[in-house]
Amino acid sequence: MRNAEVPVLTLDGPSGAGKGTVARRVSESLRWHLLDSGAIYRALALSAELAGMAMDDVPALLGIARTMVVDFRLDERGRPQVLLDGNDVTKVIRSETCGKQASQIAALPAVRGALLQCQRAFRRPPGLVADGRDMGTVVFPDALVKIYLMASVEERAHRRYKQLMEQGVSGNIAPILKEIEARDLRDSTRSVSPLVPAPDAVILETTGKSVEAVVSIVLSQIRQRSDRML
Ligand code: DC
Repeated sequence: MRNAEVPVLTLDGPSGAGKGTVARRVSESLRWHLLDSGAIYRALALSAELAGMAMDDVPALLGIARTMVVDFRLDERGRPQVLLDGNDVTKVIRSETCGKQASQIAALPAVRGALLQCQRAFRRPPGLVADGRDMGTVVFPDALVKIYLMASVEERAHRRYKQLMEQGVSGNIAPILKEIEARDLRDSTRSVSPLVPAPDAVILETTGKSVEAVVSIVLSQIRQRSDRML
């Protein structure tokens, strides 16, 4: 199978729309590879922070982007892990600070360009589930199925709050809501790859829907599209 023939499902949408969980469940069900593109931006921000670099130092960021190696795997208990140059950074990249820095560097066109190849390299047989903001518009414009997940700001803040509680991180819902609004604005108004649905994406509203319901809709979209191709 040539790389371009490997089927891709793109799941785009704003922070907290449930992309991560849905992408993982769908990739497990189809036994396809999984690309968490946000983790790549977060890993780059973390690398820059650890090296003492400013988040607007484009040449330095490009230097790291071209050499860093990000990998996804399951730990011994089957939980997803993110490795940066072989080190487990799963937890540390989830901090609010790292998310904010990732959003800042993601607004830099040269950085996005430098990360394109790294993301496309995850397209391997038998298929790929790609989760992000511009998977269907820029990174995999020829994807088999494109889904754009939406949810209200309140629902997304509530989900994020619950997630933090489950991880034992204390927090308050009001600042989370504010940060999500600020990140939405930054991600959707940047000049390159702004957060917008691809014209051929299926818009899926997840407010009030269970993860199982969303996963089942996504899987049925893939089945429908695959049937039409046979
Ligand atoms: O999905 P996430 O919260 O882990 O992503 C972190 C930041 O990275 C997010 O604010 C926007 C940016 N990002 C992006 O610009 N493009 C992507 N494909 C994925 C993430």
